[in-house]
Formats: sequence, structure tokens, C-alpha cells
Amino acid sequence: MVRVAVIGGSGVYDFPAENKRELTVETPYGKVNLTIGHVAGEEVAFLARHGKGHSVPPHKVNYRANIWALHELGVERIVATSAVGSLNPNMRPGDFVILDQLIDFTVSRPRTFYDGEESPHDRKFVAHVDFTEPYCPEIRRALITAAKDLSLPYHPKGTYVCTEGPRFETAAEIRAYRILGGDVVGMTQCPEAALARELEMCYATVAIVTNYAAGISGKKLTHAEVVELMNKKTREITALITKA
Ligand code: HPA
Repeated sequence: MVRVAVIGGSGVYDFPAENKRELTVETPYGKVNLTIGHVAGEEVAFLARHGKGHSVPPHKVNYRANIWALHELGVERIVATSAVGSLNPNMRPGDFVILDQLIDFTVSRPRTFYDGEESPHDRKFVAHVDFTEPYCPEIRRALITAAKDLSLPYHPKGTYVCTEGPRFETAAEIRAYRILGGDVVGMTQCPEAALARELEMCYATVAIVTNYAAGISGKKLTHAEVVELMNKKTREITALITKA
């Protein structure tokens, strides 16, 4: 039984593991390709959210298929990564943020398994899950302890604002998100975190600040700078998750 999974976001397209094998899982929402291998003695599934070559944009990720596939494998705990822009001057490029809250501004994504009679599986009822605390406190604690032990620059909590993308934000949007209590901004935590909750899986995310958000630094934003910073952080990210 595979009890732990890692979902790699932008810049995290692979995870070091022993005895790796590729697997395709069929779900009611489509097929999902993932790898399974041993990490620190534990069998771990790895899934690249945007595909191996970053071919799927955030609004087109098949979030339901991904989470369903992990559930099908028996996964109970998911650790995800997410590249983010920072709206909080204390959260600098290169810092890790162990997210504790989120605000959902997405507009066009299928966001639930509980679609009533339209559900393509046997869960055809209506359900409203509790989402007061969107992230698992146990996985968060493990990530915080690991970040501390590894002396990484980290913040033990932070509020993630999820935008629809794929464009970056306007300066006014970023000012508004800051007033609303956001610390970092990205495009993929919704509906991923909520779908994990719907299937009663523990889920937590380590966000990696790749840039200051629009209008904060006065510079134009590019996807290239996000990728460049993520490439520099790959080793730290895998060390952090493996230790956690
Ligand atoms: N905005 C949205 N998503 C992001 C950003 C950003 O500034 N940086 C990395 N992902």
C-alpha cells in the first residue's frame, strides 16, 4: 500500500527515490501517470502536477483525476509543492512557507467530486466538507520541524491566494489580496487542497517564494525567473520533504 504521495508543482518534475517504477492509474476523470519508489524506507508516489515537461497550465490541470488516482492507490497523506509570488515583504524569494490558510479566487475549474447525480462514480450525493483548516496540522508540523533541522529559511505559516491565471496578477489585485490577508499568491492550490479533503486525505503544501508579486518590486514578472529560482531550490525541496 502506498500511503504517502508527493505532488510536485512548477520546477519539481521528479523526486529522488529507490526502485522507481512508472504507473498509469485509470480514474473516472481520466488517466494519471505517476512514479512510485522508496523514500526513506517508505513507499511514496510522485506526481508532476503540470506533467513532466510542464505541459499543462494551472487552469487545465486535471486535479480531480490526480487526487482520485492517489486515493485509489491507498494514499493517506499528500505533501505538495507550489511556486509562489510574495505579497509579504518578510517572505523573500528563496524562502519556504508552510501554508496554513488559503483564499480561493479561481473561477473556471471543476472543484468537487460531489457533483450530485452528474458524478461519474458511486459518490452521487451532495456533500459539504469542513475546510476551516485547509492544511493538515500533522504534516505541517513535520515540515516545520524538518525545515528547522535543515536550517532552511522558512515561515511556519502563511495565507495563499489562489488566482485563476495563467496570467500573472495586476498591481491592484496584489494590493487587494494583501488587504484581504494574503501572504503569497499562486495558481494551483485550488481545488487541489479541497479535493484531497473531500476524499479525507491529509494534505499540506510547502510553498517556495520565487518572486515578489506584481507591483511590489517594480520589475516585470516572467515565468523564466520562477523556473530559475526553482532550479536553484530543487535540492533543498527534496531534502525538506524527505526529512519530513
Ligand atoms: N503569481 C502567481 N503565481 C505565481 C507567482 C506569482 O507572482 N509566482 C509563482 N507562481
